[in-house]
Amino acid sequence: MALRLKEKIEQKFDEEIRFFKGWIDKPKRVGAILPTSAITARRMASVINPQSGLPVLELGPGTGIITKAILERGITPEKLYAIEFSTDFYQHLVDHFPGVNFINGDAFDLDATLGEDLKDQQFDCVVSAIPLLSFPMYRRVQLMEKLLERLPHGRPVIQITYGPVSPVIAWPDRYHIEHFEFVVRNIPPAQLWIYRKP
Ligand SMILES: C[S@@+](CC[C@H](N)C(=O)[O-])C[C@H]1O[C@@H](n2cnc3c(N)ncnc32)[C@H](O)[C@@H]1O
Repeated sequence: MALRLKEKIEQKFDEEIRFFKGWIDKPKRVGAILPTSAITARRMASVINPQSGLPVLELGPGTGIITKAILERGITPEKLYAIEFSTDFYQHLVDHFPGVNFINGDAFDLDATLGEDLKDQQFDCVVSAIPLLSFPMYRRVQLMEKLLERLPHGRPVIQITYGPVSPVIAWPDRYHIEHFEFVVRNIPPAQLWIYRKP
């Protein structure tokens, strides 16, 4: 028992160091200074419908905390696609989550990053932790529209952010915005936002 606890603590510490190294290299790309908490990850994964039969798209998996929560929600690794920009994080993810379809690329260049094989692929939902606030607003809006094209009507894009307002401006003709949750047990406390086609 004590050994398992020790291993768990070491693993968590290892993830935090890895995250911090990523942050030192590219603070704007990584966004937060600590990995997402397991509670936040589970709240984000709760929007997935494992019965839809469609795969899930994750953006910015980083150390894989949200990836783990998505798999625990009942999505098989083959049904999860995850786009990670950092090659270091990508390599770590490939080693730790066998069978998940990780793509080392830029989520903002969505169609090219998903490639020819997935050009018509629809997803159940999008679970995103990319640091939107580091990018100009027009690119956030463009990305949101591209993501929503990949989802059946009414299915959500869920996004984590640390600011007080939605990181994507309101555009009611194009998408609806819903404040999903404020998670205090996250460092820093996090806001979860949901976007859907009207
Ligand atoms: C706040 S961190 C995610 C934290 C992650 N949930 C965790 O706990 O480890 C943001 C992640 O998004 C990735 N990222 C940033 N810009 C990206 C982009 N354009 N496309 C894909 N991933 C991106 C970063 O490399 C980083 O891993």
